[in-house]
Amino acid sequence: MARKNVNLKKLISQMTLEQKVSQLIQLNAMNFAKSATEITGPAQQWGLSDEWLNTMGSTLNFADAEEMIKIQKNHMEKDPNGIPMMFMMDVIHGYRTIYPIPLGLAASFDPELVYECTRMAAKEAAAGGVNVTFTPMVDYVRDARWGRVLETAGEDPYLTSVIGATQVRAFQGDDLSDKENLAACVKHYAAYGGAEAGRDYNTVELSERILREYYLPSYKACIDAGVKMIMPSFNSLNGVPSAANSWLMKQVLKKEWKFRGTVITDYNAIGELKTHGIAENMREAAKMAFENGCDIEMMSNGYHDHLCELVRDGTIDEKKVDEAVMRVLKLKKELGLFDDPYRGASPEREKALALCPEHRAIARRAANESAVLLKNEGVLPFSKDLKKVAVIGHFAECNEIKGFWSCHGKDSECVTVADGIRAKLPGAEIITAYGCSPLWNDKNTDGFSEAVAAAKEADAVVLCLGEPQTYSGEGNSRADIRLPGMQEELARAVVAANPNCALVLFNGRPLVLTDINCPAILDMWFPGSEGGNSAADLLFGDAVPCGKITMSFPKAVGQCPIYYNHPSTGRPKWTAEDVHQAYASNYIGCGNLPLYSFGHGLSYTKFEYESMELSDTKMSAEKPLTVKITVKNVGNYAAKETVQLYFRDIYASTVRPVQQLAAFEKIALAPGEKKTVTFTVTEEMLRFYNAECKHVSEAGEFVIFTGYADHRYKEARFFLK
Ligand code: NOJ
Repeated sequence: MARKNVNLKKLISQMTLEQKVSQLIQLNAMNFAKSATEITGPAQQWGLSDEWLNTMGSTLNFADAEEMIKIQKNHMEKDPNGIPMMFMMDVIHGYRTIYPIPLGLAASFDPELVYECTRMAAKEAAAGGVNVTFTPMVDYVRDARWGRVLETAGEDPYLTSVIGATQVRAFQGDDLSDKENLAACVKHYAAYGGAEAGRDYNTVELSERILREYYLPSYKACIDAGVKMIMPSFNSLNGVPSAANSWLMKQVLKKEWKFRGTVITDYNAIGELKTHGIAENMREAAKMAFENGCDIEMMSNGYHDHLCELVRDGTIDEKKVDEAVMRVLKLKKELGLFDDPYRGASPEREKALALCPEHRAIARRAANESAVLLKNEGVLPFSKDLKKVAVIGHFAECNEIKGFWSCHGKDSECVTVADGIRAKLPGAEIITAYGCSPLWNDKNTDGFSEAVAAAKEADAVVLCLGEPQTYSGEGNSRADIRLPGMQEELARAVVAANPNCALVLFNGRPLVLTDINCPAILDMWFPGSEGGNSAADLLFGDAVPCGKITMSFPKAVGQCPIYYNHPSTGRPKWTAEDVHQAYASNYIGCGNLPLYSFGHGLSYTKFEYESMELSDTKMSAEKPLTVKITVKNVGNYAAKETVQLYFRDIYASTVRPVQQLAAFEKIALAPGEKKTVTFTVTEEMLRFYNAECKHVSEAGEFVIFTGYADHRYKEARFFLK
């Protein structure tokens, strides 16, 4: 029975307390479409009765449309209130057709491409029965040791905000009841990416000023874009885990930002309040989380075991439970679930969309635009006339290149580099050699001689190295972020055998590449389903690299955390990068700059920044500044360039970053073509948090430049009145 106009208030008034609390619990799918006596996993230990199971509000991690339909059908037959269940999943960089990991996609500096990829994921996931995705992840990051940097857009708050808000719009569309749209859930609020020493789940201690300036804007941008759900993070922030952090949840989220959507905890985060040692028992944990606004409890038993009793003994007002249930039911109604509990779920459509040619083409284009040419000493692109190409390394014939969090993507559906090259050069001889494993503790070099022999006999070498895809993602932090195992040694041996060699990298984080002597390095990240085809496009010049890294690649792991927009110090280093300067802020034996900075990425063509013109040397709130930058393609390839605009506030009442990204635009230029990009700099863009944590701008002088990091192509000064 379609219940489009269901009266939620009335519905809630007819529900028992247990039925209401059940709406606030999320269990994974293996518990459903079964009876309470058959269930396994955590739910079995909680002693869930059929009454609870049959009225449960939502589930996560199910297989496909078929399973969704089965679970929902069973649920609709049994739930006495006829309330459909809501189906959630981590659709992070694709559902079945996988595009590059978010850190890679961010390197495209292309919100339109992000939109297109996200729409593709939304369509596939909606057909698979997904109603809500736990995306976007907009944690701001500075430490490449953290495995979850792969899910982020990197070390710039503005870029992270733009990409997060784009994903929200793309998933949700204008009308959530449209069966191709999903509700989005922004995460992990807040500052999960600030984990000490880059170790996952670790403590985060940050001043309110730094939090507001770097870490919070991206969550706020998603809320402003209308995101329906938010997930508090696992970590403690200044001593209090997010799910119980009243400053974060009540003061900032609800009061300042006026978020009215649904809050869902992370997996067992209420249970972890006990492990953190801030709740004595599960009753206290449930009380803390509920009182701080966590509507849905994911995968722990605090609400099931204690919320009813907390209401009945007068600790929690039942009205508050009704409000939380209302938020959950409102979302179900907006999604159109009351009208059609199965919504877009369709096994036929799910199958038809999965890896269809149109989607593969989007994934290939996304991989082409996300790859970053880190280094090129005249080696790339290779000629398509090569007779013999050696493809060497673990990732040569490896299809494990979709990366962590790739939903229902399958390794077997990813194109390997060797296969991509075989398809690109049908007439050439392609020889492959394994070399060595990428496991950190595997020191076996038996495959080196075969690899060296292959390199020697080939016209060119494509060396495919990297980290296994299980070395990044949740729980996968690394203390040493060089290429694991004997891969550095393999690279040296292969380059010595044949210097016409390009290194193709697969990685979920910035790596330390200081000791890699390959003349060219092309970073593919984890590129997804079309990885090998994309690598072949880029290596042989059918696509021109245009990605720019959004997270610094350190020279040594000891530089972490390292980020381009760091505050200035009282003792900056003035000497050359490799010279140690006494009594200055620097290291002995290692410069301050990363090996590759935020914004770096080469092309096969050359761009000349001809001019940067300012509309005035003075600006004000009423009179913004216009900046016109003219760029010419002076090389031989049609290519894309991301024009980046940065500024520095020279004097202010709190120490300012040495540079910060103000705006960017990606343009396409044919050989010989020039274009002028126009940016507007407003007073609002120049605001910062002062010592009282007020968001202000201060009059004074600013430097503005185009280029990136220490590569300033054009620079000017202006005054804010
Ligand atoms: C834990 C992760 O931290 C979060 O990102 C994810 O959405 C949930 N598990 C659900 O899978």
